[in-house]
Amino acid sequence: MSYFPYKNGELYAENVALADIAKKFGTPTYVYSKAALLENFFAYADICKGRDALICYAMKANSNLAVLNLLARHGAGFDLVSGGELLRVLAAGGDPAKCIFSGVGKSRDEIRLALSHDILCFNVESVAELHRLNEVAGEMGKVAPVSLRVNPNVDAKTHPYIATGLKANKFGVDFEDALETFRTGSKLPHLDVIGIDCHIGSQLLDDAPLLEALDKLIELIDTLATEDIPLHHIDLGGGLGITYADEKPVAVQDYVSRVFARIAQWRDTNHHGKPIKVIFEPGRSIVGNAGILLTTIEYVKPGTEKNFCIVDAAMNDLMRPAMYQAWMGVQEVTRREKPPATYDVVGPVCESGDWLARSRSLAIEPGDLLAILSAGAYGMTMASNYNTRGRAAEVMVDGDRVHLIRRREEQSELFALESIILD
Ligand code: LLP
Repeated sequence: MSYFPYKNGELYAENVALADIAKKFGTPTYVYSKAALLENFFAYADICKGRDALICYAMKANSNLAVLNLLARHGAGFDLVSGGELLRVLAAGGDPAKCIFSGVGKSRDEIRLALSHDILCFNVESVAELHRLNEVAGEMGKVAPVSLRVNPNVDAKTHPYIATGLKANKFGVDFEDALETFRTGSKLPHLDVIGIDCHIGSQLLDDAPLLEALDKLIELIDTLATEDIPLHHIDLGGGLGITYADEKPVAVQDYVSRVFARIAQWRDTNHHGKPIKVIFEPGRSIVGNAGILLTTIEYVKPGTEKNFCIVDAAMNDLMRPAMYQAWMGVQEVTRREKPPATYDVVGPVCESGDWLARSRSLAIEPGDLLAILSAGAYGMTMASNYNTRGRAAEVMVDGDRVHLIRRREEQSELFALESIILD
């Protein structure tokens, strides 16, 4: 079901007309549907109910406090990648004991912060990180819980910038070196090696590569068990895709059930039915289609080769098209009775790469509103102040109510941290 339906030719977010949101909060504005967010979260949570499983929402996809708080209240943990993200979780009322810390470059300060809050575990990505973690934990008189991120070398068949499970990627420990790295980790006095994880890529439409990765992890866990390095959890990362155009991603329920079925069969055969905790780190599949970017058309600029529709949102608000040539859906907020023309939808930033959508058929006039669809994930979190543009406002719709969850940045705030040298 779409939470952004047309009603009498007007586009809505749940029960609120987007035109009313634009009037009240201005544009560009990210608009999220609370019901869509929860539906996407429960697609995972319902199947995990009653099992030893944890959903650690990958908050890099959308880390607004209201989003985090909503998910935390419904039992989510978090996959974080910086000290800043941990502080956000705490500010949002999330439970650090349900947080895992991923990323290849954790600083000593970040490790210290995470240890002081007793997070669930560190997803360690290299031997050097194992040693640093052991050292910092030792200094603090603590034992750090560790999961080793292995790189299963499977092809996720996605955009090269968002594929992470191949040997050529900077992430994780090579599968061939994993056993030795586990041995090293298990000997370090201030580490407790408890799990294994992988994340092979993002926007995956098929779960076959994920299940292939699962099989490789299972194989390694069995080998480790024979060396008396028992693991207590298996973390498959995130990665499930969403529909931007006409993609047909595997249903969350189907993927998660296949994972549980495979794990049950394995545990029954090799581990006398002893369960193992399963962790998922979904980001995009929870927030992606729960948000749109609302923007106003400033100018319509007809050309000999192309027509341009120049809007007040730009690549600094939504990087995905410029960065990955991503295709994002575009809809008129108010449908017009006139023949459409073909436009490139572009922003005001001074770069040819500043486009949001190309060759779209739209029936529009200057001053009209457009919605850029499926912009809830990696939209606002990747926004910048390029061209000294304030970042967009964010609102969350809940039925017929609209909550401002991030006010628009004032222009005077944009250089408030800078100073002029006075000599
Ligand atoms: N876990 C780890 C370790 C990750 O690196 C990521 C995403 C996730 C989980 C969540 O993956 P998801 O479920 O969202 O696919 N900016 C890009 C996507 C970058 C993904 C980075 N890692 C985009 O806009 O497509």
